[in-house]
Amino acid sequence: MSKQRAVWQSGLGFFLASAGSAVGLGNIWRFPYMAGENGGALFILVYLLIIIFITSFALICEIALGKYTKKNCVEASMQIHHRFKWLGFSMIVSTLLIPAFYFVVGGWIIYYLFYSFSLPAGNYGDVFMAMTAKPVLTCTLAIVFLATCSYFNYKGVNEGVEKCNKILMPMLCVIMVILAVFSLSLPGAAEGLAFMFRPDFSKLNGKVFIDALGQSFFTLSTGTGAMLIYGSYMTAEHRIIKNSYSIVAFDTLVAICAGLIIFPAVFTYGVEPQGGPGLVFVTLPEIFRQMPGGSLFSAAFFLLLLFASVTSGISLIENPVAVLHEMCGMSRKKAVLLTSIAIALLSLPCALSFGILSNVKLFGKTFFDLFDFFSSNLLLPLNSMFICLGVSIFFRAKSDFHFKNRTYDRIFWIMTRYIIPVVMVIIITSAFIN
Ligand code: TRP
Repeated sequence: MSKQRAVWQSGLGFFLASAGSAVGLGNIWRFPYMAGENGGALFILVYLLIIIFITSFALICEIALGKYTKKNCVEASMQIHHRFKWLGFSMIVSTLLIPAFYFVVGGWIIYYLFYSFSLPAGNYGDVFMAMTAKPVLTCTLAIVFLATCSYFNYKGVNEGVEKCNKILMPMLCVIMVILAVFSLSLPGAAEGLAFMFRPDFSKLNGKVFIDALGQSFFTLSTGTGAMLIYGSYMTAEHRIIKNSYSIVAFDTLVAICAGLIIFPAVFTYGVEPQGGPGLVFVTLPEIFRQMPGGSLFSAAFFLLLLFASVTSGISLIENPVAVLHEMCGMSRKKAVLLTSIAIALLSLPCALSFGILSNVKLFGKTFFDLFDFFSSNLLLPLNSMFICLGVSIFFRAKSDFHFKNRTYDRIFWIMTRYIIPVVMVIIITSAFIN
């Protein structure tokens, strides 16, 4: 069975790994297309409110549960209450469904990395569709992406990844700021900014709320136990609140920066903001083609984005691996292998959703969209809601989990026990009635 559990080597280790988990395709690929589909500014406003008043509290609860139990998600759930075992398994389900589509997009990033070197003028929408329609190509790329993440999981989270994060994340930020400045100099900048920051309240509906809710959990990696397991490698010196709010702030800035890159370009090049999952893959190549030194920028950008998404992918795999390793007594190697096979099998229908399986739909959605909707918009918020309830009702009473600041402590428990669950139930049910 499990021997010594890993701990973060440095004070910064937890922050780097969890910021690495949070910042990824969710910020740069998913956020712009969700915002584009839901009226831009209105979505961003609702999203910010939800992140501040709901998701950051849920994130803190999840990290704290890990830190105070030092267990994986299933055992930690059982420490909330023996009847909460199912919650651990529900987290495992979500942690297998998310990489199923996430790794497909990771594969697309690899393709665009190589595509950077030949950016012919042309219709990038067609380029995207042609790529996603090729079954062997998309499946292979997804598997390559998966294998890369698994390799790091097998090698251990502590060393290589912690070190790389320290250098590559700031580099990604620098490139993003340069791209945003370039994009804001385009003729469509004013329209792009208005789209992002001038909300049209007549568009308010249940979909905006549920999509913003799902996006906020997705982008902070909250609800699958990914942050719980990272929290469980914390030592007593690691501060939960400071780290959590830093992650929230950093993650949000990266997402807004991605919006500042994409939307001015969307309006300059006449791309539909409602373009769906292909949005950034259609707009970014246009930007790179127009920029001086575009190929180089493009290659650097996709390489750094690839790295950012690998660090997110690692955190998705770590969770089931920890459960298999600690509860079933499997070696780390076997646990990584088994998890990877399960994810690979689930990835295939998602990878084929844009080509040969594009007409196979359940509840009106392709496998790709269904996995995304079901896990991001339903499972993550629901898992988190039960973590908040469980921690505030049962776990607080039997652990020494409290905050030094009395006022914050009181607000925290009222939020997690009453307000957040009620608001989440309202959002989720209203989305279904809609
Ligand atoms: N947050 C990551 C991103 O924005 C994706 C991710 C990593 C994730 N681990 C997760 C999402 C756990 C949900 C749950 O790209």
